[in-house]
Amino acid sequence: MRTYLVTGGAGFIGSNYIHYMFGKYGDDIKIINVDLLTYAGNPENLKEVEGRDNYTFIKADICDREAITKIFAENEIDSVIHFAAESHVDRSIKNPEVFVMTNVLGTATMLNAARAAWEKEDGTYPEGKRFLHVSTDEVFGSLPEGEGYFYEDTPYAPHSPYSASKAGSDMLVKAYMDTYHFPANITNCSNNYGPYQFPEKLIPLMINNALQGKKLPVYGDGKNVRDWLYVEDHAKAIDMVCENGRLFETYNVGGHNEKENIEIVKTIIQVLKEELPADDARQAHLNEDLITYVEDRKGHDRRYAIAPDKIKKELGWEPDTMFADGIRKTIRWYFDHAAWMENVTSGAYQKYYEEMYSTK
Ligand code: NAD
Ligand code: DAU
Repeated sequence: MRTYLVTGGAGFIGSNYIHYMFGKYGDDIKIINVDLLTYAGNPENLKEVEGRDNYTFIKADICDREAITKIFAENEIDSVIHFAAESHVDRSIKNPEVFVMTNVLGTATMLNAARAAWEKEDGTYPEGKRFLHVSTDEVFGSLPEGEGYFYEDTPYAPHSPYSASKAGSDMLVKAYMDTYHFPANITNCSNNYGPYQFPEKLIPLMINNALQGKKLPVYGDGKNVRDWLYVEDHAKAIDMVCENGRLFETYNVGGHNEKENIEIVKTIIQVLKEELPADDARQAHLNEDLITYVEDRKGHDRRYAIAPDKIKKELGWEPDTMFADGIRKTIRWYFDHAAWMENVTSGAYQKYYEEMYSTK
Protein backbone atom coordinates (compact mmCIF):
# COMPACT_ATOMS: atom_id res chain seq x y z
CA MET A 1 0.00 0.00 0.00
CA ARG A 2 1.55 3.30 -1.06
CA THR A 3 1.56 6.18 1.41
CA TYR A 4 1.21 9.71 0.08
CA LEU A 5 2.20 12.75 2.09
CA VAL A 6 0.07 15.56 0.65
CA THR A 7 0.90 19.12 1.73
CA GLY A 8 -1.77 21.81 1.44
CA GLY A 9 -4.48 19.18 1.00
CA ALA A 10 -7.14 21.38 2.61
CA GLY A 11 -6.84 24.00 -0.14
CA PHE A 12 -8.52 24.14 -3.53
CA ILE A 13 -6.42 21.80 -5.69
CA GLY A 14 -5.14 19.69 -2.80
CA SER A 15 -8.64 18.77 -1.64
CA ASN A 16 -9.77 18.00 -5.18
CA TYR A 17 -6.68 15.82 -5.58
CA ILE A 18 -7.47 13.90 -2.36
CA HIS A 19 -11.06 13.29 -3.52
CA TYR A 20 -9.77 12.18 -6.92
CA MET A 21 -7.27 9.76 -5.37
CA PHE A 22 -9.77 8.11 -3.00
CA GLY A 23 -12.25 7.95 -5.87
CA LYS A 24 -9.70 6.14 -7.99
CA TYR A 25 -7.78 3.96 -5.50
CA GLY A 26 -10.24 3.61 -2.59
CA ASP A 27 -8.65 1.63 0.26
CA ASP A 28 -5.52 0.73 -1.71
CA ILE A 29 -3.63 3.88 -0.73
CA LYS A 30 -2.95 5.85 2.43
CA ILE A 31 -2.99 9.66 2.47
CA ILE A 32 -1.51 11.88 5.15
CA ASN A 33 -2.56 15.49 4.66
CA VAL A 34 -0.35 18.15 6.24
CA ASP A 35 -1.87 21.60 6.22
CA LEU A 36 -1.52 24.68 8.40
CA LEU A 37 -5.13 25.69 7.71
CA THR A 38 -4.40 29.26 6.72
CA TYR A 39 -7.32 31.37 5.45
CA ALA A 40 -7.14 29.21 2.27
CA GLY A 41 -7.28 25.84 4.00
CA ASN A 42 -10.72 24.57 4.87
CA PRO A 43 -11.41 21.25 6.65
CA GLU A 44 -14.96 21.39 5.25
CA ASN A 45 -13.45 20.57 1.84
CA LEU A 46 -12.56 17.13 3.18
CA LYS A 47 -15.42 16.21 5.47
CA GLU A 48 -16.42 13.28 3.21
CA VAL A 49 -13.04 11.61 3.68
CA GLU A 50 -12.42 12.51 7.34
CA GLY A 51 -13.73 9.18 8.66
CA ARG A 52 -11.63 6.95 6.40
CA ASP A 53 -9.12 4.63 8.10
CA ASN A 54 -6.62 5.34 5.33
CA TYR A 55 -6.73 9.15 5.75
CA THR A 56 -4.92 11.21 8.38
CA PHE A 57 -4.93 14.97 8.85
CA ILE A 58 -2.02 16.70 10.58
CA LYS A 59 -2.13 20.43 11.26
CA ALA A 60 1.42 21.66 10.76
CA ASP A 61 3.45 24.37 9.09
CA ILE A 62 5.66 23.18 6.22
CA CYS A 63 8.30 25.62 7.52
CA ASP A 64 8.38 23.80 10.87
CA ARG A 65 11.38 21.52 10.46
CA GLU A 66 10.73 19.56 13.66
CA ALA A 67 7.10 18.84 12.86
CA ILE A 68 7.86 17.77 9.29
CA THR A 69 10.83 15.61 10.33
CA LYS A 70 8.60 13.87 12.89
CA ILE A 71 6.01 13.04 10.22
CA PHE A 72 8.69 11.39 8.08
CA ALA A 73 10.09 9.54 11.12
CA GLU A 74 6.70 8.16 12.13
CA ASN A 75 5.46 7.17 8.69
CA GLU A 76 6.90 5.27 5.75
CA ILE A 77 6.25 7.92 3.10
CA ASP A 78 6.50 6.81 -0.54
CA SER A 79 5.35 9.91 -2.42
CA VAL A 80 5.22 13.55 -1.43
CA ILE A 81 2.71 15.66 -3.37
CA HIS A 82 3.65 19.20 -2.46
CA PHE A 83 0.77 21.67 -2.96
CA ALA A 84 1.12 23.86 0.14
CA ALA A 85 1.79 27.45 -0.83
CA GLU A 86 0.54 30.97 -0.67
CA SER A 87 -1.24 31.07 -4.01
CA HIS A 88 -2.92 34.43 -4.68
CA VAL A 89 -1.08 36.99 -6.84
CA ASP A 90 -2.98 40.03 -5.46
CA ARG A 91 -2.08 39.08 -1.88
CA SER A 92 1.56 38.67 -2.90
CA ILE A 93 1.57 42.24 -4.23
CA LYS A 94 0.30 43.52 -0.87
CA ASN A 95 2.38 41.26 1.37
CA PRO A 96 5.29 39.49 -0.36
CA GLU A 97 7.23 38.18 2.66
CA VAL A 98 4.85 35.39 3.62
CA PHE A 99 5.14 34.10 0.03
CA VAL A 100 8.90 33.79 0.40
CA MET A 101 8.51 32.08 3.77
CA THR A 102 5.92 29.52 2.75
CA ASN A 103 6.81 28.94 -0.88
CA VAL A 104 10.61 29.06 -0.69
CA LEU A 105 11.50 28.18 2.91
CA GLY A 106 8.57 25.75 3.19
CA THR A 107 9.67 23.91 0.05
CA ALA A 108 13.28 23.81 1.32
CA THR A 109 12.04 22.31 4.59
CA MET A 110 10.02 19.66 2.78
CA LEU A 111 12.95 18.78 0.50
CA ASN A 112 15.37 18.54 3.44
CA ALA A 113 13.08 16.33 5.47
CA ALA A 114 12.33 14.01 2.53
CA ARG A 115 15.99 13.71 1.62
CA ALA A 116 16.99 13.00 5.23
CA ALA A 117 14.35 10.29 5.47
CA TRP A 118 14.96 8.67 2.08
CA GLU A 119 18.65 8.96 1.15
CA LYS A 120 20.71 5.81 1.71
CA GLU A 121 24.33 5.80 2.84
CA ASP A 122 25.57 5.40 -0.72
CA GLY A 123 23.63 8.48 -1.83
CA THR A 124 20.93 6.53 -3.70
CA TYR A 125 17.23 6.34 -2.89
CA PRO A 126 14.95 3.33 -2.49
CA GLU A 127 12.89 2.41 -5.55
CA GLY A 128 9.49 4.08 -5.62
CA LYS A 129 10.30 7.25 -3.66
CA ARG A 130 9.18 10.43 -5.39
CA PHE A 131 8.71 14.09 -4.49
CA LEU A 132 6.24 15.82 -6.80
CA HIS A 133 6.39 19.59 -6.63
CA VAL A 134 3.20 21.24 -7.86
CA SER A 135 4.05 24.48 -9.60
CA THR A 136 2.58 27.01 -11.95
CA ASP A 137 2.88 28.34 -15.50
CA GLU A 138 3.37 31.84 -14.01
CA VAL A 139 7.08 31.09 -13.48
CA PHE A 140 7.52 31.51 -17.26
CA GLY A 141 6.32 35.11 -17.21
CA SER A 142 4.03 36.60 -19.81
CA LEU A 143 3.44 35.83 -23.50
CA PRO A 144 2.55 38.35 -26.21
CA GLU A 145 -1.05 38.32 -27.42
CA GLY A 146 -1.80 35.46 -29.81
CA GLU A 147 1.79 34.30 -30.13
CA GLY A 148 3.78 31.42 -28.61
CA TYR A 149 3.43 28.91 -25.78
CA PHE A 150 5.20 27.94 -22.59
CA TYR A 151 7.27 24.77 -23.04
CA GLU A 152 9.21 22.92 -20.34
CA ASP A 153 12.44 24.60 -21.50
CA THR A 154 11.01 28.14 -21.70
CA PRO A 155 13.30 30.34 -19.57
CA TYR A 156 11.89 31.42 -16.21
CA ALA A 157 10.81 35.09 -16.09
CA PRO A 158 8.46 35.57 -13.12
CA HIS A 159 6.96 39.02 -12.51
CA SER A 160 4.88 38.94 -9.33
CA PRO A 161 6.17 38.16 -5.84
CA TYR A 162 3.98 35.03 -6.01
CA SER A 163 5.48 33.74 -9.23
CA ALA A 164 9.00 34.73 -8.14
CA SER A 165 8.58 32.70 -4.95
CA LYS A 166 7.23 29.73 -6.93
CA ALA A 167 10.16 30.04 -9.35
CA GLY A 168 12.48 30.02 -6.33
CA SER A 169 10.84 26.84 -5.06
CA ASP A 170 11.14 25.19 -8.49
CA MET A 171 14.83 26.10 -8.59
CA LEU A 172 15.37 24.46 -5.22
CA VAL A 173 13.73 21.26 -6.45
CA LYS A 174 15.93 21.36 -9.58
CA ALA A 175 18.99 21.93 -7.38
CA TYR A 176 18.11 18.90 -5.25
CA MET A 177 17.74 16.75 -8.36
CA ASP A 178 21.06 17.98 -9.79
CA THR A 179 23.05 17.96 -6.54
CA TYR A 180 21.70 14.95 -4.65
CA HIS A 181 20.07 13.00 -7.49
CA PHE A 182 16.92 13.51 -5.40
CA PRO A 183 13.94 11.66 -6.96
CA ALA A 184 11.57 14.45 -7.92
CA ASN A 185 9.32 15.89 -10.59
CA ILE A 186 7.94 19.35 -11.17
CA THR A 187 4.58 20.01 -12.79
CA ASN A 188 3.80 23.51 -14.11
CA CYS A 189 0.08 23.90 -14.58
CA SER A 190 -2.14 26.66 -15.97
CA ASN A 191 -5.14 28.28 -14.20
CA ASN A 192 -7.44 25.79 -12.48
CA TYR A 193 -11.14 26.19 -11.79
CA GLY A 194 -13.78 23.97 -10.16
CA PRO A 195 -15.27 23.10 -6.75
CA TYR A 196 -13.77 24.35 -3.46
CA GLN A 197 -11.91 27.32 -5.01
CA PHE A 198 -11.63 30.23 -2.59
CA PRO A 199 -13.56 33.30 -3.83
CA GLU A 200 -10.51 35.53 -4.01
CA LYS A 201 -9.80 34.00 -7.45
CA LEU A 202 -11.50 35.20 -10.62
CA ILE A 203 -14.15 32.51 -11.26
CA PRO A 204 -15.60 31.93 -7.76
CA LEU A 205 -15.36 35.66 -6.97
CA MET A 206 -17.43 36.51 -10.05
CA ILE A 207 -19.98 33.76 -9.33
CA ASN A 208 -20.40 34.93 -5.75
CA ASN A 209 -20.63 38.64 -6.62
CA ALA A 210 -23.01 38.08 -9.53
CA LEU A 211 -25.40 36.05 -7.39
CA GLN A 212 -25.45 38.87 -4.85
CA GLY A 213 -25.88 41.57 -7.46
CA LYS A 214 -22.49 43.09 -6.56
CA LYS A 215 -20.26 44.69 -9.16
CA LEU A 216 -17.92 42.42 -11.12
CA PRO A 217 -14.46 44.01 -10.91
CA VAL A 218 -12.56 43.37 -14.14
CA TYR A 219 -8.92 44.48 -14.01
CA GLY A 220 -7.55 46.76 -16.75
CA ASP A 221 -9.10 46.23 -20.18
CA GLY A 222 -10.28 42.68 -19.37
CA LYS A 223 -8.26 41.28 -22.26
CA ASN A 224 -5.61 39.43 -20.27
CA VAL A 225 -5.62 35.80 -21.30
CA ARG A 226 -5.49 32.77 -19.02
CA ASP A 227 -5.47 29.09 -20.02
CA TRP A 228 -8.19 27.39 -17.93
CA LEU A 229 -8.17 23.75 -16.81
CA TYR A 230 -10.82 21.89 -14.82
CA VAL A 231 -9.21 20.97 -11.49
CA GLU A 232 -9.92 17.24 -11.78
CA ASP A 233 -7.84 17.15 -14.95
CA HIS A 234 -4.95 18.63 -12.99
CA ALA A 235 -5.40 15.95 -10.30
CA LYS A 236 -5.33 13.31 -13.03
CA ALA A 237 -2.12 14.76 -14.49
CA ILE A 238 -0.41 14.75 -11.08
CA ASP A 239 -1.40 11.13 -10.53
CA MET A 240 -0.10 10.14 -13.99
CA VAL A 241 3.24 11.86 -13.41
CA CYS A 242 3.51 10.20 -10.01
CA GLU A 243 2.71 6.78 -11.51
CA ASN A 244 4.64 6.85 -14.75
CA GLY A 245 6.50 10.13 -15.18
CA ARG A 246 10.24 9.93 -15.73
CA LEU A 247 12.03 11.01 -12.57
CA PHE A 248 13.90 14.34 -12.73
CA GLU A 249 11.58 15.61 -15.47
CA THR A 250 9.33 18.65 -15.58
CA TYR A 251 5.85 18.35 -17.13
CA ASN A 252 3.70 21.24 -18.31
CA VAL A 253 -0.04 20.76 -17.75
CA GLY A 254 -2.75 22.70 -19.60
CA GLY A 255 -5.69 22.09 -21.88
CA HIS A 256 -5.28 24.65 -24.69
CA ASN A 257 -8.21 26.62 -23.37
CA GLU A 258 -7.22 30.27 -23.65
CA LYS A 259 -9.83 32.86 -22.74
CA GLU A 260 -9.82 36.58 -22.15
CA ASN A 261 -10.99 37.49 -18.64
CA ILE A 262 -13.94 39.46 -19.98
CA GLU A 263 -15.16 36.39 -21.89
CA ILE A 264 -15.02 34.36 -18.67
CA VAL A 265 -17.06 36.97 -16.81
CA LYS A 266 -19.70 37.18 -19.56
CA THR A 267 -19.91 33.37 -19.73
CA ILE A 268 -20.48 33.21 -15.96
CA ILE A 269 -23.37 35.70 -16.20
CA GLN A 270 -24.90 33.74 -19.08
CA VAL A 271 -24.60 30.32 -17.43
CA LEU A 272 -25.91 31.67 -14.11
CA LYS A 273 -28.99 33.00 -15.92
CA GLU A 274 -29.55 29.63 -17.60
CA GLU A 275 -29.07 27.61 -14.41
CA LEU A 276 -31.21 29.72 -12.06
CA PRO A 277 -34.96 29.05 -12.19
CA ALA A 278 -36.73 31.65 -14.37
CA ASP A 279 -38.71 32.98 -11.38
CA ASP A 280 -35.66 33.36 -9.11
CA ALA A 281 -35.50 36.97 -7.90
CA ARG A 282 -31.77 37.14 -8.69
CA GLN A 283 -32.53 36.92 -12.44
CA ALA A 284 -33.47 40.62 -12.26
CA HIS A 285 -29.96 41.87 -11.58
CA LEU A 286 -28.01 39.22 -13.53
CA ASN A 287 -26.78 41.13 -16.54
CA GLU A 288 -23.65 42.69 -18.00
CA ASP A 289 -24.34 46.03 -16.27
CA LEU A 290 -22.69 44.45 -13.24
CA ILE A 291 -19.33 44.46 -15.05
CA THR A 292 -17.07 47.25 -13.78
CA TYR A 293 -13.64 47.91 -15.20
CA VAL A 294 -11.28 48.74 -12.32
CA GLU A 295 -7.65 49.71 -11.89
CA ASP A 296 -5.29 47.09 -13.32
CA ARG A 297 -3.27 44.64 -11.23
CA LYS A 298 0.33 45.88 -10.82
CA GLY A 299 2.70 44.05 -13.21
CA HIS A 300 -0.31 42.18 -14.68
CA ASP A 301 0.89 39.35 -16.96
CA ARG A 302 -0.83 39.65 -20.32
CA ARG A 303 -1.15 36.08 -21.47
CA TYR A 304 -0.42 32.54 -20.29
CA ALA A 305 -0.63 29.54 -22.63
CA ILE A 306 0.74 26.09 -21.89
CA ALA A 307 2.02 23.58 -24.45
CA PRO A 308 1.08 20.22 -22.91
CA ASP A 309 2.75 18.21 -25.72
CA LYS A 310 5.21 16.36 -23.47
CA ILE A 311 2.74 15.03 -20.90
CA LYS A 312 0.40 14.07 -23.73
CA LYS A 313 3.10 12.25 -25.71
CA GLU A 314 4.88 10.53 -22.80
CA LEU A 315 1.99 9.77 -20.46
CA GLY A 316 -1.11 9.99 -22.64
CA TRP A 317 -2.62 12.75 -20.49
CA GLU A 318 -5.47 14.76 -21.97
CA PRO A 319 -8.15 16.81 -20.26
CA ASP A 320 -11.54 15.09 -19.90
CA THR A 321 -13.62 18.18 -19.16
CA MET A 322 -14.09 20.88 -21.78
CA PHE A 323 -14.67 24.44 -20.58
CA ALA A 324 -18.36 24.65 -21.53
CA ASP A 325 -19.11 21.61 -19.35
CA GLY A 326 -16.60 22.47 -16.63
CA ILE A 327 -17.91 25.97 -16.00
CA ARG A 328 -21.52 24.70 -15.81
CA LYS A 329 -20.50 21.91 -13.40
CA THR A 330 -18.62 24.48 -11.32
CA ILE A 331 -21.57 26.87 -11.16
CA ARG A 332 -23.91 24.03 -10.19
CA TRP A 333 -21.45 23.02 -7.47
CA TYR A 334 -21.54 26.55 -6.02
CA PHE A 335 -25.37 26.50 -6.15
CA ASP A 336 -25.42 23.19 -4.26
CA HIS A 337 -22.88 24.43 -1.71
CA ALA A 338 -24.25 27.85 -0.83
CA ALA A 339 -23.44 27.21 2.84
CA TRP A 340 -19.79 26.55 1.94
CA MET A 341 -19.60 29.92 0.20
CA GLU A 342 -21.36 31.63 3.10
CA ASN A 343 -18.91 30.14 5.62
CA VAL A 344 -15.78 31.12 3.71
CA THR A 345 -17.01 34.63 2.96
CA SER A 346 -18.09 35.48 6.50
CA GLY A 347 -15.62 37.15 8.87
CA ALA A 348 -12.09 37.71 7.58
CA TYR A 349 -13.12 37.60 3.91
CA GLN A 350 -15.16 40.81 4.29
CA LYS A 351 -12.09 42.68 5.51
CA TYR A 352 -9.96 41.23 2.71
CA TYR A 353 -12.52 42.25 0.10
CA GLU A 354 -12.82 45.79 1.44
CA GLU A 355 -9.05 46.28 1.58
CA MET A 356 -8.40 44.78 -1.84
CA TYR A 357 -11.28 46.34 -3.76
CA SER A 358 -12.12 49.60 -1.98
CA THR A 359 -9.48 51.50 -3.95
CA LYS A 360 -10.47 49.92 -7.26
P1 NAD B 1 -4.83 27.32 -2.08
O1 NAD B 1 -4.38 28.67 -1.67
O2 NAD B 1 -6.26 27.06 -2.35
O3 NAD B 1 -4.36 26.25 -0.99
C1 NAD B 1 -3.12 26.30 -0.36
C2 NAD B 1 -3.15 25.34 0.84
O4 NAD B 1 -1.84 25.37 1.45
C3 NAD B 1 -4.16 25.75 1.92
O5 NAD B 1 -4.86 24.62 2.37
C4 NAD B 1 -3.29 26.32 3.04
O6 NAD B 1 -3.84 26.17 4.33
C5 NAD B 1 -2.01 25.51 2.86
N1 NAD B 1 -0.84 26.20 3.40
C6 NAD B 1 -0.47 27.49 3.18
N2 NAD B 1 0.64 27.77 3.87
C7 NAD B 1 1.00 26.63 4.53
C8 NAD B 1 2.08 26.29 5.40
N3 NAD B 1 3.00 27.18 5.74
N4 NAD B 1 2.13 25.03 5.88
C9 NAD B 1 1.18 24.12 5.54
N5 NAD B 1 0.14 24.38 4.74
C10 NAD B 1 0.05 25.63 4.24
O7 NAD B 1 -3.93 26.97 -3.34
P2 NAD B 1 -4.30 26.12 -4.65
O8 NAD B 1 -4.93 27.02 -5.64
O9 NAD B 1 -4.98 24.87 -4.24
O10 NAD B 1 -2.83 25.78 -5.18
C11 NAD B 1 -2.14 24.64 -4.71
C12 NAD B 1 -0.78 24.58 -5.38
O11 NAD B 1 -0.92 24.53 -6.78
C13 NAD B 1 0.10 25.80 -5.10
O12 NAD B 1 1.42 25.36 -4.92
C14 NAD B 1 -0.02 26.65 -6.36
O13 NAD B 1 1.13 27.41 -6.56
C15 NAD B 1 -0.19 25.57 -7.42
N6 NAD B 1 -0.96 25.95 -8.63
C16 NAD B 1 -2.19 26.55 -8.50
C17 NAD B 1 -2.94 26.83 -9.65
C18 NAD B 1 -4.30 27.47 -9.56
O14 NAD B 1 -4.87 27.82 -10.60
N7 NAD B 1 -4.90 27.61 -8.41
C19 NAD B 1 -2.41 26.53 -10.91
C20 NAD B 1 -1.14 25.94 -10.98
C21 NAD B 1 -0.44 25.63 -9.83
O1 DAU C 1 -1.64 30.35 -13.95
C1 DAU C 1 -1.70 29.62 -12.76
C2 DAU C 1 -2.03 30.54 -11.61
O2 DAU C 1 -3.39 30.91 -11.76
C3 DAU C 1 -1.77 29.94 -10.24
O3 DAU C 1 -0.40 29.69 -10.10
C4 DAU C 1 -2.24 30.87 -9.13
O4 DAU C 1 -2.09 30.25 -7.87
C5 DAU C 1 -3.69 31.19 -9.37
O5 DAU C 1 -4.14 32.12 -8.39
C6 DAU C 1 -3.91 31.77 -10.77
O6 DAU C 1 -3.30 33.08 -10.89
P1 DAU C 1 -4.04 34.28 -11.68
O7 DAU C 1 -3.51 35.55 -11.18
O8 DAU C 1 -4.03 34.03 -13.14
O9 DAU C 1 -5.55 34.02 -11.16
P2 DAU C 1 -6.71 35.01 -10.63
O10 DAU C 1 -7.93 34.19 -10.49
O11 DAU C 1 -6.26 35.81 -9.46
O12 DAU C 1 -6.90 36.01 -11.86
C7 DAU C 1 -7.21 35.52 -13.16
C8 DAU C 1 -7.27 36.72 -14.08
O13 DAU C 1 -8.41 37.52 -13.74
C9 DAU C 1 -6.06 37.65 -13.98
O14 DAU C 1 -5.76 38.16 -15.26
C10 DAU C 1 -6.56 38.79 -13.07
C11 DAU C 1 -8.03 38.86 -13.39
N1 DAU C 1 -8.91 39.28 -12.27
C12 DAU C 1 -8.82 38.62 -11.08
C13 DAU C 1 -9.62 38.96 -10.01
C14 DAU C 1 -9.49 38.24 -8.69
C15 DAU C 1 -9.85 40.29 -12.45
O15 DAU C 1 -9.96 40.88 -13.55
N2 DAU C 1 -10.66 40.64 -11.38
C16 DAU C 1 -10.56 40.04 -10.17
O16 DAU C 1 -11.30 40.43 -9.23
